[in-house]
Amino acid sequence: MQIRSIGSGPSSLLFGLDIKVRRPDLDVEILRAGRLNAAPGGIAFSTHPRRRVRARLAELLGSAWAPRRWQSIQVLRADRTIDIPAWNSAVGRLQLEHLLEEAAHAAGCVIRDVLTPNSAQGATDLTAFEAKLSSTYAPELAPQALSGAKAKSATFAVGPMAADQVIAAISTEYGPFLGHGFAYSDSQGIFNLEAPSSSWERLAAAGEDIVRFVMEKFAKVLSGSPIEQLTAARSMDTGMMQRRREGQHVMLDGSQVSVHDSFLFREELALDDALALSAAVSESRDIADALARYEKSRAHVAASASRSSAVMVNWIENIHRYMDQRPLQFSFNALTRSMRINHRDIEQHAPKYLRAVDREFSGVAEGTDPPPPPMFTPLQLRGLTILNRIGFSPMCMYSSDDGMPSDFHLVHIGSRAMGGAGLVMTEMANVSPEARLSHGCAGMYRREHVDGWRRVVDFVHAHTDSKTAIQLGHGGRRASTARPWEGGPNIPALQDNWQTVGPSALPYADSLPVPREMTVADMQKVVADYAQAAAWSIDAGFDMVEIHMAHGYLFSTFLSPLSNARTDEFGGSLENRARFPLEVVRAVRRSLPDEMPLSVRISAVDWSPDGSTIEHMIGFSAMLKDAGVDIIDVSTGNVINVRRPATGRLFQTPFSDQIRNEVKIPTMTVGRIVSYGDMDAILASGRADICLLAKAYLDDPYLPQHAAKARGYRGMKWPDPYSTAADVRFRAEA
Ligand SMILES: Cc1cc2nc3c(=O)[nH]c(=O)nc-3n(C[C@H](O)[C@H](O)[C@H](O)COP(=O)(O)O)c2cc1C
Repeated sequence: MQIRSIGSGPSSLLFGLDIKVRRPDLDVEILRAGRLNAAPGGIAFSTHPRRRVRARLAELLGSAWAPRRWQSIQVLRADRTIDIPAWNSAVGRLQLEHLLEEAAHAAGCVIRDVLTPNSAQGATDLTAFEAKLSSTYAPELAPQALSGAKAKSATFAVGPMAADQVIAAISTEYGPFLGHGFAYSDSQGIFNLEAPSSSWERLAAAGEDIVRFVMEKFAKVLSGSPIEQLTAARSMDTGMMQRRREGQHVMLDGSQVSVHDSFLFREELALDDALALSAAVSESRDIADALARYEKSRAHVAASASRSSAVMVNWIENIHRYMDQRPLQFSFNALTRSMRINHRDIEQHAPKYLRAVDREFSGVAEGTDPPPPPMFTPLQLRGLTILNRIGFSPMCMYSSDDGMPSDFHLVHIGSRAMGGAGLVMTEMANVSPEARLSHGCAGMYRREHVDGWRRVVDFVHAHTDSKTAIQLGHGGRRASTARPWEGGPNIPALQDNWQTVGPSALPYADSLPVPREMTVADMQKVVADYAQAAAWSIDAGFDMVEIHMAHGYLFSTFLSPLSNARTDEFGGSLENRARFPLEVVRAVRRSLPDEMPLSVRISAVDWSPDGSTIEHMIGFSAMLKDAGVDIIDVSTGNVINVRRPATGRLFQTPFSDQIRNEVKIPTMTVGRIVSYGDMDAILASGRADICLLAKAYLDDPYLPQHAAKARGYRGMKWPDPYSTAADVRFRAEA
């Protein structure tokens, strides 16, 4: 079998070398296309145990493989320098290429220099090419930029820096800029200058010489040696590779197309692609099978990297939001800005630094006990102290009869409180019978419901330290549906269904009836229902109230242009769309005592270009803040009946971050929070004030107690009868 690998960078060399070592029987030809134009540069390598590139390079290159292990990270912010032990490493690109070339030659690859990519001659069974050559080999696969992100970055070759990795955020007369560099030898480094589009525009308008600008502004980290600009300021826009192959042609390093230049491990990702292709080819029956395997194995890697890359672009475009963070918190925020590494990852490498971050976060004085992990740092909202930041997210249980909370709720909520949740939230409790999603949904619309909920709340207060919140909801056009296990949620209730309402006569799904357009009198009734339900919630003993304004239920249909086609004062502009929801918020606020906090859950985006955007919902959150809301519970989607396009680990946290830091209001984040380290990172970086978990809590009602054990935190109290559980260390295997 004849394999050809073409490119000017290290990916094509690594693929050729690796496949030849795995399968010496194959004929492997490596074409070096246009390498004379190679620019200086370095490749950073992560220490993540799942990354195989470093380990494989060590195997393939032996003792010649000696990357520079970084010793220190320096973060510069507002005249403060924070030194942190480093954990990653880097190597010069040309040095790596040289080593790979030698090894490939020794392994029996044929290596040829070609002047232009077109000079590849002769048929092969497989031609692998680097992404930048796609226009020659498979124009169909040419990468496209997609996100429309505005922030830009430029890259510089620099001399020695103040540390192996430097991150410096500075305020200039043109706006904020972030410099991010790493060293790949004693005297050489790469430095990326990143900034919001507005900073770049002002810099360009001033006609500043960019090299002089960088040398002057970043003098503290760049040590004065000359620098050379390698790339002009260019959009940090990234696109997703949809496909990597066309016939026998396959793109080697498609994943790096999905991330921008400032993504630290961009090239490592490309090298990892090359190894994955080699593994797929050497382990598969035939080329077609190999390419399918390769495509499949890399799609989620690229998707995850692309999401992080987009988060980073947003972070830099809106860096003004973080410039007033204290330097230590800023440093942690900057280190975790891609959300790919978390609190736990950093703690493993830099425990002292992490303790300083946690100490500042918790406000626990120096010289006393170790600070609690951020998860276990209490939060004050008005008169309410929530003892930890792990919340039990609202979840419909469809286990009520005429809205009445049942034994199911007592156990469901009671056991999460026993498990140590700082805050337990009820499912959506509806404010009228017709507000319910189904016949099984809970309510707060009859006096008797107060007694039902009080039983649950009293249990929680009597036996645990958890605080309780009720989520008050109205299903709007998504009401009157079947229970999920009866075929719902998008089929009408199986019997006794009722007329639904909405801002406009637009159904949620084709399978659901058309809602009746609400009159002003209908709205006044809902306002009154909410005020009454809030007053009853106080009688039931709840510590906090949340209004559900997300997920395509009544208020989110008013807020979203996709479901609100009204032409009166309740439709059109954001102010108009927000009018009715805000009236409800004010009515509820009036029903609550001053010391009781009020939360609102929103869908921060509709995941649809014509729907509510994060900018709209930042505007709405500011209105909520003015109306006396204390915390925003930031969810997304479900306003229209389409799949969310961008789910994944922590997929909603960036929206919480944006609202919290733009509006300056506490937030709760929810959605695919998958580890304790993630929770601590979210909190310590200032992306949210409470982490809510839903499905993970169904799996483990004692999640906070288990988190405390995992973190060695001894400040969590067990309910007295359970106190002997504190020292149990149960292992799945003996
Ligand atoms: C069974 C179930 C019922 C839910 N019911 C509600 C609800 O009543 N109100 C609400 O705001 N969100 C509801 N959600 C959404 C969750 O609160 C949460 O936002 C979502 O599951 C994402 O969090 P997770 O990834 O931790 O599960 C529900 C989710 C599930 C799985």
